[in-house]
Amino acid sequence: MTVSVSKKDHNARRGRHKPSVAKDLLGWYDTNRRDLPWRAKPGVKNDPYRVWLSEIMLQQTTVPSVGAYYRAFLLRWPSVADLARATQDEVLGAWAGLGYYSRARNLHRAAQVVAAAHGGVFPSTAAELRTLPGVGPYTAAAVAAIAFDEVVAALDTNGERILSRLFAIEAPLPQSRKRIAEVAADLVPTDRPGDFAQALMDLGSAICTPKRPGCLVCPLSLHCRARVLGIAENLPVKKPKPDRPLKRGAAYVAFDEQGAVHLVRRPEKGLLGGMLQPSMGEWRVAFPTSKGMKEEAPFQGPWRKCPGIVSHGFTHFLLELEVYAATFTRRPNSEGLWLPPERLDGAALPTVMKKVIRHAEGANPPKKR
Ligand code: ADE
Repeated sequence: MTVSVSKKDHNARRGRHKPSVAKDLLGWYDTNRRDLPWRAKPGVKNDPYRVWLSEIMLQQTTVPSVGAYYRAFLLRWPSVADLARATQDEVLGAWAGLGYYSRARNLHRAAQVVAAAHGGVFPSTAAELRTLPGVGPYTAAAVAAIAFDEVVAALDTNGERILSRLFAIEAPLPQSRKRIAEVAADLVPTDRPGDFAQALMDLGSAICTPKRPGCLVCPLSLHCRARVLGIAENLPVKKPKPDRPLKRGAAYVAFDEQGAVHLVRRPEKGLLGGMLQPSMGEWRVAFPTSKGMKEEAPFQGPWRKCPGIVSHGFTHFLLELEVYAATFTRRPNSEGLWLPPERLDGAALPTVMKKVIRHAEGANPPKKR
């Protein structure tokens, strides 16, 4: 049997529904909010620079991994103008280890846009924020809501999970994203949009978790259709991800007698763009043959294959690298730079390349080089 509901009734129901979800969520947030380094204390205004910096770092990265990087950035570049004056290499060096390096290049470019085109003042609406490099719909909404109280829904994966459960949305992501955004827009309270966004993040991290959600202690359990239907843990439905292909290649780590490492810079565009690495052959389906290895090494030398391989998972493929190492009494004449061991830590070296260098060093301790 279907029950028809007049528009007036429907709106009246929505009107009742809306404040109670936000009210229950914010009531929970007021006593359970996480104390995070980029969050202003209750009642204190959030600084847009800090909110933006943290949101860019938190894209595709977890809260525990971000804390130390966030503090180091703020210490080194306390304002957006300071960050705009840094060199790209300094920013990439400070970002090394956080992954997804296009975020660091865009962060730097966006700081320069804010400094040059906006007089060092962040634009205050989601629509304007979206014009900055690296700022997509979620980040723009999060900064606008948290730093400027714009009444917009900022839904990260936590928010999407919570909303898809609250409304028992069974269509798979990403197709259901539009519907989720519509129901969310209806719930945002006009007086505390930023807290609402952050409350969803905290609820998603502590209670409405992907597996085994804590429905018994959830402040929204009375509103949650998925809980009533017993399907909370199955939502959101996600389109299965294709298997990641495996690529293989070889890295060539050259040392001088002082242990300095030969590095080259990757092209600006594409994966790990603008970052440093030891010389590297092409990544293909198979490791290079011994003939292929000689052809792709950056220069002739006493190359020796280090035992074992270095594996690394990128978003779209898995990588396995054989590592060849050689020590040179005279640095060969070649493009690139030679970095002494004490400067490797602060250099713009992605995690996988640090693993490669460590692997080569492990197989070639200084006395054997
Ligand atoms: N994930 C993305 N943005 C966040 C924030 N501001 N606080 C906690 N987790 C987040």
